[in-house]
Amino acid sequence: EFDSEDVAAIVEDLKGLEGPLLPILHAVQDRFGHVPDEAVRVIAHRLNLTRAEVYGVVSFYHDYHREPHGAHTLKVCRAEACQAAGGDAIADRIEKALGIKFGETTADGRVTLEAVYCLGLCATAPSAMLDDRLFGRLNAAKADRLTAEAQL
Ligand code: FES
Repeated sequence: EFDSEDVAAIVEDLKGLEGPLLPILHAVQDRFGHVPDEAVRVIAHRLNLTRAEVYGVVSFYHDYHREPHGAHTLKVCRAEACQAAGGDAIADRIEKALGIKFGETTADGRVTLEAVYCLGLCATAPSAMLDDRLFGRLNAAKADRLTAEAQL
């Protein structure tokens, strides 16, 4: 459960570091699973930053999430080798099948869709990862199976 006192304590612990914002965001995400708007307010206030500055950093780094994550996370590689192997069409297909964009979670909370930049499976591109399982050589049929499975 979110607790602004916890966020305040994290900020106090880490604000002496040089460049404290990233470690603070990391700690907040570790604690709550995402970086809630209310945490951004507390962090900005305590570091003397504007909320826009903190949001800027949160959205710049793909590792931070502003919303709670879905039950499953589907990561689709958008890096070069996968793009060259037809990954863009697969990515579009997956977005359409789930009805969300990259970075979003389905309304039922089942699936969070994330873009990643290389899963180390370039040889079998295009690649994706559902929770902790890797999938290569995605084609339309495999992508459809993957999105169906993600929604179970
Ligand atoms: Fe997609 Fe390496 S570029 S797995």
